[in-house]
Amino acid sequence: MGLDKNAIDSLQEQAREAARFSYSPYSKFRVGAALLASDGTVYRGANIENRSYGLANCAERSAVFLALSQGVTSFDAIAIYSPDSEEMLTPCGACRQVLSEFVGPDFPVYCGSADGQFQIIAMKELLPYDALRDFRQR
Ligand code: THU
Repeated sequence: MGLDKNAIDSLQEQAREAARFSYSPYSKFRVGAALLASDGTVYRGANIENRSYGLANCAERSAVFLALSQGVTSFDAIAIYSPDSEEMLTPCGACRQVLSEFVGPDFPVYCGSADGQFQIIAMKELLPYDALRDFRQR
């Protein structure tokens, strides 16, 4: 988790910015994510909902899929933020699984709350007992 404070502050600020582009007229729960690639590029995502409710895509997966679609597969950190969550927002189960495909157990997830505070949680804490961890390398 060797990111300097400026990089972390910037990532958190970009997660806040990303939430402005949330399309969430159904839940009214705006979420932004900022995914830091190992080359220093930040990929932002927002949650995108649909009137067919089950098609909602979380901010975290929007960011991961944006990066992957541009051939970027190596990441150092992600920050997520919702102005509508008084509690620290952690990724949903689906996003934990998708993230875990591309990051290691010590990957830092900065989980924000509406007051602008972020807590750091490692991937291995969010997705313990990951029996499939090495499956993709076979
Ligand atoms: N959502 C995210 O984008 N990220 C999370 O970490 C939690 C949930 C979205 C999905 C849906 O659009 C809305 O928030 C309410 O669940």
